[in-house]
Amino acid sequence: MAQIPVDQLSEAQAVEELTRLADEISAHDIRYHAEDAPTISDAEYDDLKRRNGEIEARFPHLVRENSPSMRVGAARSEKFRAIQHGVPMLSLDNAFADDEAVEFDARIRRFLRLPADETVGYTAEPKIDGLSCSIRYEKGVLIQAATRGDGKVGEDVTANVRTIAEIPHRLLGAGWPDVIEVRGEIYLGHEEFAALNAAAAEAGQKTYANPRNAAAGSLRQIDAAVTASRPLRFFAYAWGYHSEPFAETQWEALGKLRAWGFPTTPESVRVENAQGLLAAYAGMERVRPRLGYDIDGVVYKVDRLDWQQRLGFVSRAPRWGIARKFPAQQARTILEAIDIQVGRTGAITPVARLHPVTVGGVVVVNATLHNADEIARKDVRVGDTVILQRAGDVIPQIVAVVPEERPEGAQPFEFPTHCPCPLRTELVRETTAAGAETVVRRCSGEFACPFQRLAHLRHFVSRRAFDIEGLGEKQLTIFSERGWLNSPADIFRLKTKREEMLDLDRFGETSVGNLLASIEDRRRIDLDRFIYGLGIRHVGETTSLALARHFETVERFVEISKLAAEQTAGPVYAELSDLDGLGPTAVAAVLDFARAGQGVLVPPDISLDGHLRLAIPKLNARARAALDARYGDWPTFEAAARQAAAETPGEALLEVASVDAVGVVAARMIAEFFGEDHNRALVDDLLGELTIIPAERPKTDTAVAGKTIVFTGALERMTRDEAKAQAERLGAKVSGSVSKKTDIVVAGPGAGSKLKTATELGVQVMTEDEWLAMVGD
Ligand code: IVH
Repeated sequence: MAQIPVDQLSEAQAVEELTRLADEISAHDIRYHAEDAPTISDAEYDDLKRRNGEIEARFPHLVRENSPSMRVGAARSEKFRAIQHGVPMLSLDNAFADDEAVEFDARIRRFLRLPADETVGYTAEPKIDGLSCSIRYEKGVLIQAATRGDGKVGEDVTANVRTIAEIPHRLLGAGWPDVIEVRGEIYLGHEEFAALNAAAAEAGQKTYANPRNAAAGSLRQIDAAVTASRPLRFFAYAWGYHSEPFAETQWEALGKLRAWGFPTTPESVRVENAQGLLAAYAGMERVRPRLGYDIDGVVYKVDRLDWQQRLGFVSRAPRWGIARKFPAQQARTILEAIDIQVGRTGAITPVARLHPVTVGGVVVVNATLHNADEIARKDVRVGDTVILQRAGDVIPQIVAVVPEERPEGAQPFEFPTHCPCPLRTELVRETTAAGAETVVRRCSGEFACPFQRLAHLRHFVSRRAFDIEGLGEKQLTIFSERGWLNSPADIFRLKTKREEMLDLDRFGETSVGNLLASIEDRRRIDLDRFIYGLGIRHVGETTSLALARHFETVERFVEISKLAAEQTAGPVYAELSDLDGLGPTAVAAVLDFARAGQGVLVPPDISLDGHLRLAIPKLNARARAALDARYGDWPTFEAAARQAAAETPGEALLEVASVDAVGVVAARMIAEFFGEDHNRALVDDLLGELTIIPAERPKTDTAVAGKTIVFTGALERMTRDEAKAQAERLGAKVSGSVSKKTDIVVAGPGAGSKLKTATELGVQVMTEDEWLAMVGD
C-alpha cells in the first residue's frame, strides 16, 4: 500500500495511521523483545518509528497515551521475576547521516550556550548490537542483574548473568560507589554464533537469525546452566543508580569500569567537535569487519558529566547522547528463483536469486540457502518476500520469510533428486563414518561432472592454493568449454593454446602474456600448497601444512597415501576412534583389550561404566562416559570393540592419521582420494608438470619452538595469517583457544575472554610488539 506523505495527511487519516503504527510497532516489539524472533529489519522498524514521530510532530494533540514514542522495549516476559531499575534504562535517539551528527553538536552548543571558541568534547563508542543489562553491585559484590524490559522494570536474570565469564562477581580495585548499577551490552561473537547455530541445526533445533537474537535467547533461559554453556560476552559503557559520584567525565568513567574488571570497547575514542564525530564514525566503519562481533553504529556522548546533567532528557532519550547508525544490514526483497550450485566436492548448495536490493550499501542479488533441510525448515518458496541479511564480508543469508506477503499458490520448493550436470547423476545424502545421514547432498560424478570440475579448478588456482593470477572463474569457464582444461595439469599446458587464446574476445597480447607468465611462476610450488590444491575433503590449509611437514617430500606423501588407500578403516573402527571424549590412548586401550580377547568376571547387572572400570582400568571417566553414551551395555560394546579391532587399518593409514592436526576423518578422506584411479592419474599427471619444493621441518632451536601460542584481539603489524605462518616457521604451534597447555597469549586491542582466561590460568601474556621483539622481527 502506498503511504500518504505525512504533510498530506488529513487529521482523520492521521488518527487512523497512528493507531495502525502503534499496533504494528507493538507487535514488532513483542516479537523482538519477548520472543527474540523479529520479523522485520531494524531499518524497517526505525522507519515505522520515524513515521510515527513525524505524524505526532505535525499533530501534537493526537499523541496517544500509549504511543510507541513513549515506550522503550516491550512488556516483560512472565518467565522472570520483575526487577525495578534504580534509575530507568532509557534509549538513544538515532541519526542516520553526517548532517544529523553536525546538528547534534550544534544543538548541544546552543543548549549549553557555549561561546564559538569552546568545544564540547565527546566520546564516540561502538554501538554494540546485543542486549543491554543492568548489574547491581553492593559493596563491590554482584547482587542482581536485570534486562532492560520496559525501561522501568526489567527481568531478573541474575543467575544467568553470573555465568558470564567477563562479568566480575566482585569488583576489582577500589573507589567504587557503595551501590552501583553497572550497565552495558551482553553480546555474542560471530564465531560463537556460527558454532551455536551449527550445533542447533545438527540437533534439529531452531537456529537464531543473528548474534543479537542468539545472545538474547541465550541469556533469557530459565535454566542458567544453558546460559553457562553459551559463550556470552559483555562490554560496560554506562551506569544507572550510584550512591556516590565516581567520575567527572564519561571517558574517566570508562577507565574506572575497566579498572573494576569490566571489558570496555577498545575502539572508543574521545573527540573534540563535530568534525571529530564524523571522523570517529568513518573510523568505526573501517574497523567494523574485523571486530568479530556486530556493531550497528556509533554512540556519541557529551564527555563532561556535569554537562550531561544540565542537558538532561527529553521523553525517553537523553539530550547528551545520540546513536549514529550504520546503513541497514538487513532488507526485504523478493525471492525470484532457487538455483542449484555444485561445489568442488559435489556438495549441492541451493542459491537464492533475488530481486536486487541494497543491503548495507551493497547491491545483493544472490544469497545462500545452505541446504535442503534449511529450505524446508524456513519454508522458503519462490515468490516469497524474504528478509535478507549481510554481515561483514560473508555471503548474504536469508533470515526468514514474511508469511503475510506470500503470493497465492506459491509452492513448497522441491529439492532436485538429480545433479543439474549433463550426467544427471542421482544426488545422495552424505553419510558420516558411522553411517548416519547428514544434511549435505552430493553429486557422485566427481571429475566427470563439469560443475565439479570447474569448482575443483577454481579451488586449485585460488589464493591459498596455487594462487594463479589472471585465471579466474571467467577464464576457467571459457577454457573448460573449449575443452582445454579437463584437469589441473592442463593449466600447465595452456601455453600450447596461446594462438587460440589470442583469437578470443577480450584476450590481448598483454593479458595472455601475463596469464601464461603467472602460470609458469607456479610450476615450482611448496608441498603444502600442492596438497591443499588437490582439494581433498577435510584437508584444509592447516592439515596440508602438517602433512607436508611430516612427509617432507611429495614422493613420500604420495607413496604413503597410495598405500593408505588400500587400508581404508572400516566404519566401526572409524566411529570408535572418532568418538568425542575418547583420546588416542583410550582408543588404543580398547583395541588392546579386544585383541587380547579375555573376558573379565563381573557380577551380573553391573553397568557398562562399572564393567569398563574392571575390564579396562586404563580408561578415564570421560572415556567411559563416552563409551557408555554410545554403546549402552556390555555386549554391544564388546561386539563393537572386537569388530573395530578387526577393522583396524594398516600402518600407512595410521601414519597419516597420527600426523598432528590430521586425525582419522581426514586420513580416511586422503585414503579414499588416492583410492580412485582418476585421482591417482590426476596427481601423477600434475607431478609430470611440476617441481614440488620439499617442506622445511619446523625449527627447533628458537625461543618459541615447541610452544603453543594463541593470538587474540586485533594485530596491528601483521595479519593473522602472517603471524601464524611466522610462529609455525619458528617451530611453535598456534592454537585458537587458551588452556593450561597454552604457553603464550599475544593479545592485541579488543582481546576479551581469551585474555581473561589466560590471566586466570597464569599463562604468559604479551603485546604484539613484545612478541615481535622476542621472535627477533
Ligand atoms: S549508552 C540512555 N553506549 O544502544 C541510554 N548504549 O539505543 C544510554 N548500546 O539501550 C545508552 N552500545 O542497548 C550506550 N556504547 C554504548 C552502547 C549502547 C550499544 C545500546 C544499548 C542502548 C541502546 C540505545
